[in-house]
Amino acid sequence: MTLLKWKPEYSVGDPAIDYEHEMMIRQINTLYDQLDACADSEAIEAVLGEIHADISAHFALEERMMKQANYTGFEDHKEDHEELLDQLHEMMELNFQSPEDRDSLLKLRLSDWFGHHFSTFDARLHRKLS
Ligand SMILES: [Fe+2]
Ligand SMILES: [Fe+2]
Repeated sequence: MTLLKWKPEYSVGDPAIDYEHEMMIRQINTLYDQLDACADSEAIEAVLGEIHADISAHFALEERMMKQANYTGFEDHKEDHEELLDQLHEMMELNFQSPEDRDSLLKLRLSDWFGHHFSTFDARLHRKLS
């Protein structure tokens, strides 16, 4: 089952950034599928590590772009990035030991964050810079 779906309103008008966002959604779906298939904790840990590394790199890129452009929304935008990284750290610590974790952590927190961040913070940023 697919947890997150790419939506046209997520598009920020920069194909390279949209591509990275789509990859992020794809990775979260892979994690969700693995949890659904009851993959072992090592496999889950590996996927979470990969997601964390790729998302951190994407955030670092956007933060560099904001600094270079003296973007006024830098602090708030960075704070929202850190919010997601905190959620991922928490997931890495819990490693989805209980079935409830899967729904509460992935479905509620991550899908909310993605739906909100792309269409607000990222849309504002990338439209301004393009
Ligand atoms: Fe962002
Ligand atoms: Fe982004």
